[in-house]
Amino acid sequence: MKVILTSDHGGVNLRKEIADLLTELGVAFVDTGCDCEGSVDYPDYGIPAAERVANGEFDRGILICGTGIGMSISANKVPGVRAALVHDVFSAKATREHNDSNILAMGERVIGAGLAREIVQTWIGTEFTAGRHQNRVNKITDYENK
Ligand code: RB5
Repeated sequence: MKVILTSDHGGVNLRKEIADLLTELGVAFVDTGCDCEGSVDYPDYGIPAAERVANGEFDRGILICGTGIGMSISANKVPGVRAALVHDVFSAKATREHNDSNILAMGERVIGAGLAREIVQTWIGTEFTAGRHQNRVNKITDYENK
């Protein structure tokens, strides 16, 4: 699995924590920043990362900002992306099983590093259940393609 990891200025510290976790887990990833002291605009980081998941260059993306909301809204504008804003372990598992989410968004100002690590580990390690959920995901894809 190849993961793209990115953040705006509001997610730098949590992004570094998640980079360490992915290294510990042996998950291949590319970190696209930001290496910012000041303020940047989350769509400038979130949209290019989402495009690289949608075009198949990466299997999954992890996007972090202050709340995770800006990143999830931005990523979900890219056709083929199913970005889930997740701040609990139950949802991390459910969104992989039910939604086949290919992007995880989190907010550094919302949760601590310990919980974020558990969320990422669960989200990375959970497979899509398909079955009846496949039909629902197909309806989203059909809407994008019409
Ligand atoms: C930046 O201050 C903040 O707005 C951003 O990180 C994010 O929370 C937006 O949704």
